[in-house]
Amino acid sequence: MLCALACITLTTATADEGMWLPNRIKERIKEMRKMGFKLKADDIYSDNKASLKDAVVQFGGGCTGEFISSEGLLLTNHHCGYGSIQMLSSVEHDYLTDGYWAKSRAEELHVPGLTVSLLVKMEDVTDRLAAGETAKGIMEKETEGNGYTAEIKPIYYGNQQMLYVYRTYRDVRLVGTPPSSIGKFGGDTDNWVWPRHTGDFSIFRVYANAENEPADYSENNVPYRPARHFEVSTKGIDEGDFTMIYGFPGNTQEYVTADAVDYVAKMANPMKIALRTIRLDIISEAQAKDVATRIAYAAKHANIANAWKKWQGESLGLERLGTAEKKRAYEAEFAAWAADKPQYANLLDSMHAAYSEVIPHYFERELFNESIMGMEFFNYAYWLHLGQMRGEKLTADKQAEAREKYLTDHNVAIDRAISRRMLAEYVARMPKENLPAQLAEALAKHGSAEAVVDNIFDNTLLFTEYPLTKEKIAADPMVQFVGWFADALLKNRDYAYRNLSNVPAIEKWYRTYMKALREFDNERAFYPDANFTLRVAYGTVTGYENADGEYHTHLTTIDGIIAKDNPNIYDYDIPQSLRDTYKSKDYGRWAITQNGKKSVPVCFLASNHTSGGNSGSPVLNGKGELIGINFDRTWRSTMSDIEFDPTICRNISVDIRYVLFVIDRIGGAGYLIEEMDVK
Ligand code: ARG
Ligand code: ASP
Repeated sequence: MLCALACITLTTATADEGMWLPNRIKERIKEMRKMGFKLKADDIYSDNKASLKDAVVQFGGGCTGEFISSEGLLLTNHHCGYGSIQMLSSVEHDYLTDGYWAKSRAEELHVPGLTVSLLVKMEDVTDRLAAGETAKGIMEKETEGNGYTAEIKPIYYGNQQMLYVYRTYRDVRLVGTPPSSIGKFGGDTDNWVWPRHTGDFSIFRVYANAENEPADYSENNVPYRPARHFEVSTKGIDEGDFTMIYGFPGNTQEYVTADAVDYVAKMANPMKIALRTIRLDIISEAQAKDVATRIAYAAKHANIANAWKKWQGESLGLERLGTAEKKRAYEAEFAAWAADKPQYANLLDSMHAAYSEVIPHYFERELFNESIMGMEFFNYAYWLHLGQMRGEKLTADKQAEAREKYLTDHNVAIDRAISRRMLAEYVARMPKENLPAQLAEALAKHGSAEAVVDNIFDNTLLFTEYPLTKEKIAADPMVQFVGWFADALLKNRDYAYRNLSNVPAIEKWYRTYMKALREFDNERAFYPDANFTLRVAYGTVTGYENADGEYHTHLTTIDGIIAKDNPNIYDYDIPQSLRDTYKSKDYGRWAITQNGKKSVPVCFLASNHTSGGNSGSPVLNGKGELIGINFDRTWRSTMSDIEFDPTICRNISVDIRYVLFVIDRIGGAGYLIEEMDVK
């Protein structure tokens, strides 16, 4: 260890921290085995034989799923299947409210557009690229004639390049889902919170052609036969048991400097939280007054609230840990070490300068996204604006389609109330000289941001007349309004990177910095930041001290559901069948004894390092058997995307025994369990 003081607090590789590359898990296997893992590295990942990786899929755009039978049965979260379930639902068949259980293969419901991707292989291609092969050439070679897709993704800020080859299945069908009163129990109230009682799972099946290959939907398709599927353990879990998560975490930034931490904690999060608070207050108030509005805005509210709540926990966590101060101390040690190394000596100064230069622009983009893009009409009006700019014929059909896409579940009064406040916030937070010229003129003319918005809403025809003629579109004040931001949008595109530190003017320094860190901090185990590729995290089943003298235990049970149950609170209103089952205590083989009472396990905590995208990930025990489905973190864990604190950070999983209990006792779909390997 070359660095002394700060390194100890910041970099001691704790057993639980890290999201590791599956093809290099050999390097961790000794520690994993010490913690209770019983399998070998090539059981986790192998290029040559079936391994656990073959049982894990990327589900839809941003979740993980896992095979639990030899016939393509797939588990993921209810919140990951939500969009599909909603799409298949109608007023007569409301699967969100009532749940759904296919009684036979014929009743499994194809979800148009839903895909799952299996990783065929991953490979470090840094050397191949250095030797003169092109990325395009490598990817073509890997995908020629086999229908696979390939991508090359940088890790360690471009110091290494990883090739990923996927096989994507396009015929995926809904097999079963509990009602939302189980799958989303606790709603936004309990989101990011422990104790938790959400049965956050849904079941799909992947279909293939007769050769087991991907195919478009067809009645002739047959269940996909995965190379591996997970065995299910109902033996239960104890505090201290080994756990492993295998999935697709999306975005972490563990190696950024203090400037980036300050940006998130002091600039970006406070702005985003403030603006979302305004939007959520307006929506909640309207929802409280009217049932139809509550339903129409349920998904939007949940979406806005999810990150809003996460950012608050993240900012608090970064402050509590003193992440920026620790990073500053670490950087001071680094600078002292680097002083006599010409290639690194000025690195931190260069990075600091780059941040100063980029931050105002990046902030402007984030502000624009949260305020102007937070106006619900924006996308529809912008679609009209673009169409007429390009001289496209915006037929009645096209207008109908766009209205459907952008304005479903839309309420003009809510949109207006939000837009008034969002424009005011945008104007107040932007440097005057950077406001679009036409907006500045409109502000001068109408006197305030609110008045500008009122003028637009008073005079637009977008919500009242349809289809609109070319002339009316061109003259519409709402269409003109979005046109004012065309330049702003163009400029924002220059800063459209996942994180501030990925903007090229900054990222180019990180490449050198990461290299330098590995020399400076040479005993630290560096795992690459999450980037929506397959990773392994491992830890243990464990509670945590939430506050002085207040320990949160690792397991919740059905008794906690009943304690929260309240027919008058939407988030806590459980199905009658669950009440009845509780009363009868007829839990079948899923019963446990908890505190001397007959009960059913529901959710548990563990210390695995997870992030957004890990939802739906298999949670495995030391034998590689499925013990749960990951779906969340505790509120105080959310800074783990920047700093992981092993004493506090916990991921939340639904216990597989609760999943089976719900399928069997509530869904009456026990036949599904018969095709699983339940131990
Ligand atoms: N917080 C979890 C995640 O980030 C679950 C979100 C879904 N649940 C909800 N009530 N919005 O995705
Ligand atoms: N709930 C997140 C997801 O949907 C997981 C997390 O952020 O812990 O991926």
